[in-house]
Amino acid sequence: MDKIHSLTGMLDLYDDGDSNNLSVKIFEVEERIKKIFTNYKLSEIRTPALEDTNLFKRATGDTSDIVNKEIYSFNDRNEKSIALRPEGTASVIRAIIEKKLDQSPHKIWYMGPMWRYERPQKGRYRQFYQAGVEILGYEEGPPEFEMISLVCSIIDEFMLKNCCIKINHLGNKISKQAFCDALVKFLEPFKDDLDSKDCERLLKNPLRILDSKNEHTQSILEKAPSIKDFLEPESIELLERIKEQFSDICSIEIDYSLVRGLDYYSGFVFEAISVNLGAQDSFLGGGRYDNLCSKLGGKDLPSIGMAIGIERFASLIEEVTVKNKIISFVTVTSNLEPKTYKIAHQLRTINRDVVLDTHLDSASLKAKLRRANKNNADYVIIIGEEELSSNTAIIKPLKDELKDQQTVSIDELLSFYKAV
Ligand code: HAM
Repeated sequence: MDKIHSLTGMLDLYDDGDSNNLSVKIFEVEERIKKIFTNYKLSEIRTPALEDTNLFKRATGDTSDIVNKEIYSFNDRNEKSIALRPEGTASVIRAIIEKKLDQSPHKIWYMGPMWRYERPQKGRYRQFYQAGVEILGYEEGPPEFEMISLVCSIIDEFMLKNCCIKINHLGNKISKQAFCDALVKFLEPFKDDLDSKDCERLLKNPLRILDSKNEHTQSILEKAPSIKDFLEPESIELLERIKEQFSDICSIEIDYSLVRGLDYYSGFVFEAISVNLGAQDSFLGGGRYDNLCSKLGGKDLPSIGMAIGIERFASLIEEVTVKNKIISFVTVTSNLEPKTYKIAHQLRTINRDVVLDTHLDSASLKAKLRRANKNNADYVIIIGEEELSSNTAIIKPLKDELKDQQTVSIDELLSFYKAV
């Protein structure tokens, strides 16, 4: 019979025990990032994967690629257009408005799959995972520092090298408009040289032209006005102070041409990139979006947030090192012996930090020891017929060649396990 395959650009993630495997790294990254979120006193939110398509149309803007060509949307049985979320921010704000919590500040995190119908390539998937943070209800200032501090903590936790945080400021309402007008005026004479996508951006959202992938557009832009000349002194000062404070932890670069792919940003924006990623070089991005909540029907809620692309981030980390001790539990009795399983159960109860790997088949002792080695076990506990009848067990160290194996009573085994 024909096999059914997974959809293009969608990965199966499976921990096969190989610490070099991307899935294993992804699971490890998720666990450790969650700990950092707790460390910053962020609260978890989980929103549905499916939303009303209009939410993303209204939030991310109709010039964003996400809404124009990447959204996975379809009509449900009631002919209502629903979409698989392409990002988390719009859903978080929708939930906060619906819960009538849009008048108070919140510090929130989330993690989960997102979907974008993009052309798959290295580091670009159609289903991918994001870990996101949204800080709601605080004006520009401390939240910007908190956000970059968080990004630095995450980069530091995984000791990422060759990466850089790019920061920029899109200005306040007046300076942003003045810059957009100047940009349009500058680009007007080159209109015929722009491709259709950039022409549309020029019309609907000129700032996004700065993000153009077209080399000719980029060469025209070399002489274009810079947003730096339109920013308020305090916006430039914010960028400089952030760079000053965190550059000892991670390389930080002020990039006045940085714009983001979603339309809701206003003010401070940032992206973290790594030269090790190739074309899809950004593993994290975010910024301030003070107008989104009111645009979605809520109150004025100044906000800032970011999201990490977990697959891209995980691909940057070295082999994961397992901190917990691993012990293999091997029985070599001819019949299924319930007593040994009770011992394994007791061991797991007395020390939850140890990983106890029970071998559930009737393979030979040699085969089980080979497997224990492959699974990176520190010790093997062996119970055979003889041990079973004398109420003992063998503890065999696998990593310390100087130590011999020893036979111990079950009580001694429990004490050893508790202290290991
Ligand atoms: P974004 O820049 O569109 O921002 O996505 C954030 C990160 O998700 C990217 O830096 C990248 O690592 C990852 N990513 C995006 N698309 C793909 C893909 N097709 N395959 C693999 N990884 C991908 C947002 O989504 C905003 N919601 C971030 C934010 C939160 N801004 C404010 N709050």
